Amino acid sequence: MRLRPEVNGERLLRRLSDFAEIGKTKAGGVNRQALSSEDRAARRLLADLATARGFKVFQDAIANLFVRREGRDATRPAMLIGSHLDSQPTGGRFDGALGTLAAFEVLEALEDAGHETASAIEVVAWTNEEGSRFAPGVMGSMAFVGAAHPDDFRSVVSGDGESFSQELAATLAALPEATTRPLGTPISAYLELHIEQGPSLEREELAAGVVTAVQGTRWLAVTFSGSAGHAGTTSLAYRRDPMVAATSALNRLQMSIMPQDDDARLTVGRFSTHPGSINAIPDHVTFTVDIRHPDALSLAAIEARIRAVCEEAALSQRCSVEISTSFDMPPGSFSKVMTDRIETAARALALPYKRMISGAFHDALFVSRVAPTAMIFVPCRDGVSHNETEYVEPPHAINGARLLLAATLESMC
Ligand code: HGY
Ligand code: MN
Ligand code: MN
Repeated sequence: MRLRPEVNGERLLRRLSDFAEIGKTKAGGVNRQALSSEDRAARRLLADLATARGFKVFQDAIANLFVRREGRDATRPAMLIGSHLDSQPTGGRFDGALGTLAAFEVLEALEDAGHETASAIEVVAWTNEEGSRFAPGVMGSMAFVGAAHPDDFRSVVSGDGESFSQELAATLAALPEATTRPLGTPISAYLELHIEQGPSLEREELAAGVVTAVQGTRWLAVTFSGSAGHAGTTSLAYRRDPMVAATSALNRLQMSIMPQDDDARLTVGRFSTHPGSINAIPDHVTFTVDIRHPDALSLAAIEARIRAVCEEAALSQRCSVEISTSFDMPPGSFSKVMTDRIETAARALALPYKRMISGAFHDALFVSRVAPTAMIFVPCRDGVSHNETEYVEPPHAINGARLLLAATLESMC
């Protein structure tokens, strides 16, 4: 008698706590940045768990990690499910890890039930989703769909001077038993489970979000340059102070962009000065800007406004300004076929849900360029993420995995 595949909630929770130990921080979050030794340790654990279940392990040239469970017809493209294992420097235990480990739980549930699927199903852990250590983010999925090549990132270095290329090589070498496969191996569809990283599902007491689209993201690096000088002897008339230009520009932007448009997001996450001496007027001030908007034209208009305001501020202080774009992820929507399948599965499981768009970017947005793709969200406490206190109630994590299993099987027919 064939067993119905069922998620083993206990096992999923155990996996989540085992992975949360890798890169664990004192405040109870994780620091498992892309291609770090902690990231390699998490990949090692996933590969060992996979091998123990008789699944095959692959990685491609940018170290996207794949775990494959064979199906009836090995010639058919596999269905892909998964997320990422890398984290923010002060990240949470569930961002990325929940989707990756729930996907692995789907494979285990199928294996436990001896359930044969029409094609193979593969779990993916995408390389460098976060983009925090090495910018830009979603490097793995960008390379997978041909939107970039690993060589494009050859010269990328982290804030602490680590080379992306060297760390990538070390990561590839750390899993010698993984079979190498070309970038962009065809897939039939992709589903990603992720925490909402916002408050709406919890507030509306819903179990799941059927994600229909992802808003656009752009990352800018802004450098104001003036003249270094003595803090005590240089009067105002002789100053060309990039700090005054930078702070006045940021003040104008922060007082207008988000207050005037509820859908707009503007975040300055990094801010540095050179030489950074307490009694020297800086010669350079650099900061990053992360901007988001669901509408492509509005996103472009925000960038144009940032450039105009920074130019004006530079001029007013007889400084110069350079602005570079390190990441541009246009907004995009997911496949209706796939979102309908998630809805069908949610109704079958009697899980209250809503259709929604994602404020965070995800690998799924690039993957949607090559295969029918959608995402499932589950609530996280107070909507908090990119924060060590990030938390998901166990029933929400387990329901997310059950919905992922059901939607995956819906996609198998
Ligand atoms: O920044 C983002 O939107 C993603 O969570 N890394
Ligand atoms: Mn994430
Ligand atoms: Mn994240």
